[in-house]
Amino acid sequence: MDRIRIRGGGRLNGQIAISGAKNATLPLMIASLLTDQSLTLENVPRLADVALLKRILGNHGVDHSVDGKRAGQDSLKGETLHLTAGEIVDTTAPYDLVSRMRASFWVIGPLLARTGFAKVSLPGGCAIGTRPVDYFIDALRQLGAEIEIESGYVIASARKGLRGGRIRFPRVTVGATHVALMAASLARGETIIECAAREPEVVDLATCLSLMGARIEGAGSSTIKVQGVSSLKGARHSVLPDRIETGTYAFATAMAGGEVVLQGARADLLEAPLETLRQIGASVEITNAGIKVSRNGGELEPIDVTTEPFPGFPTDLQAQLMALVSCADGTSTIRETIFENRFMHVQELARLGAEIQLDGQIATITGVNCLKGAPVMATDLRASVSLVIAGLAAEGETVVNRVYHLDRGFERLEEKLRRCGAEIERLAA
Ligand code: EPZ
Repeated sequence: MDRIRIRGGGRLNGQIAISGAKNATLPLMIASLLTDQSLTLENVPRLADVALLKRILGNHGVDHSVDGKRAGQDSLKGETLHLTAGEIVDTTAPYDLVSRMRASFWVIGPLLARTGFAKVSLPGGCAIGTRPVDYFIDALRQLGAEIEIESGYVIASARKGLRGGRIRFPRVTVGATHVALMAASLARGETIIECAAREPEVVDLATCLSLMGARIEGAGSSTIKVQGVSSLKGARHSVLPDRIETGTYAFATAMAGGEVVLQGARADLLEAPLETLRQIGASVEITNAGIKVSRNGGELEPIDVTTEPFPGFPTDLQAQLMALVSCADGTSTIRETIFENRFMHVQELARLGAEIQLDGQIATITGVNCLKGAPVMATDLRASVSLVIAGLAAEGETVVNRVYHLDRGFERLEEKLRRCGAEIERLAA
């Protein structure tokens, strides 16, 4: 597997173009299953997860084609992807595909709504927690589906089609909100989704579904109403910018020092992280081009942060924040409330010299003067990138192993950072 070598200690100066959001692209691609017409998505990031989902959807009968420049060509814009599910040829999502990416479980909603049947492998556990699927199953049952679990598969059927219902999630869930929205769009009658996720990616999906002819009200609030329609049509939609990529480079700049303009970033998608960044001591300016983040000298202030559903501080930036405050002037605390095991980066940050104590879901980080480079490895995407951030600020050489995780969610990470003066390179396996 490839590795990334970083020689840390330099500042970051320049511009970074923010890509389309991975976590919006995946449900948007899955929405193509809802119609026999073409769904065109613009600003699609070139990521391993997107490539894998193209394969998974292909298995169900979704043809795809791509306009414009290909990976490796010098384009700062994402791909334009056309997806057409003229006919659903297979309603089974097998274990070997679903086990590689949890979001592929979400095909259960559109397959069931369009064909009345879906057999989808349970996604299983993952490095950040147990991540069950009970909320999905309860939601689909509320829409009239019969569901059995057999030999590791969720088998869902609704021979006469889905009907509207009232879904109340016990806690905020992004994935099950996506699935409920897609399924309810083709159900007979009205669906009310309570305790719905308010994340921008849910709003992006609802916007695209509305362009496809769905009747959705309230996306972005905790209660969403959907009036089912009998069919959906094709549409063209541009994926919103990635707020987690934005936050990651913003935190990297605050940690390494320097000044970086995050081009195309939208501040309204990450107000809580930007406010945290200001409290820590970075300067954040909203400009026409995007967001300008800078820090020129001065100590980093410690903070106390709790991860929460949107609009709170996102769990997907928790690891990056931990890297940043590991060099703060004092003691910070970070409480993780979304996933029960999302601290895999702690022991790796410790290799770089960070002083972090874990007590259940709370990490206490005692700032140190400077981190020192070391070989490190992480087992999930955001943990891996936190090590890159730490490596950029650390003295000497850091080698991040298992780059595979980074390629799942960060488009051309080394290239973007190199353009800002970072000494970072990929070492081929
Ligand atoms: C989405 O995961 C994101 N993934 C995650 O990003 C993100 O961390 C998470 O939302 C929270 O914001 C994608 O969008 C592809 P949830 P999701 O359902 O939908 C529990 C990244 O790094 N739960 O909101 O899987 C669950 O275990 C990834 O890009 C149940 O108990 O998250 C968790 O504790 C990682 N039963 C909580 O709810 C269920 O049936 C919230 O999870 C479903 C979820």
